[in-house]
Amino acid sequence: LDSIRQKVDDAVLCVPDFPKPGILFRDIMPIFKQPKLVSNICSAVASHLRESFPHGITAIAGLEARGFLFGPQIAILLDCIFVPIRKLGKLPGATIKASYVKEYGVDTVEIQQGILSPNDTVVIVDDLIATGGTMRAAMEVIEATQAKVIECFVLIELEALEGVKVLPEHCNFVTLLKH
Ligand code: PRP
Ligand code: MG
Repeated sequence: LDSIRQKVDDAVLCVPDFPKPGILFRDIMPIFKQPKLVSNICSAVASHLRESFPHGITAIAGLEARGFLFGPQIAILLDCIFVPIRKLGKLPGATIKASYVKEYGVDTVEIQQGILSPNDTVVIVDDLIATGGTMRAAMEVIEATQAKVIECFVLIELEALEGVKVLPEHCNFVTLLKH
């Protein structure tokens, strides 16, 4: 991961007062102006996961929407399945849900029932952790299947918001950048 840290940091754009006054928005989309960088990020994360978990990872779970930008590519490199964790109402059939508090009201994420089993070892991927509510809800839906969450990986942690503190104690959290 060390080889890409600076390049990712340089590519992320900090936008003041978006979406509201006082918020410094991290725009990760400029990363995609550099296809080589995208591919280097996904390879570096895949290598990091291979080294950390030599016994194998059976699934990458990505959070809608920005976790979908990297998660499937990492899953392909690791030859494991990709599990989409979606916002409420997008998935057909029976689902497992978890809610979390956003600035205005409650949000819910869900996965399809039967997509994971207790034998699965899962890494959850997202672009960023802020208050931690999203990642915490993601862990809840995955762990409800009895699958094991072996790592939660993000590109950026907004340290001042202390999102990591709301994650369960057993959570193995890894971030590429601390902002
Ligand atoms: C952003 C970001 C993380 C989440 C972090 O997603 O991509 O998923 O917020 O916030 P938290 O730690 O305070 O929960 P958002 O739901 O804004 O939308 P998107 O990924 O669909 O663009
Ligand atoms: Mg998101």
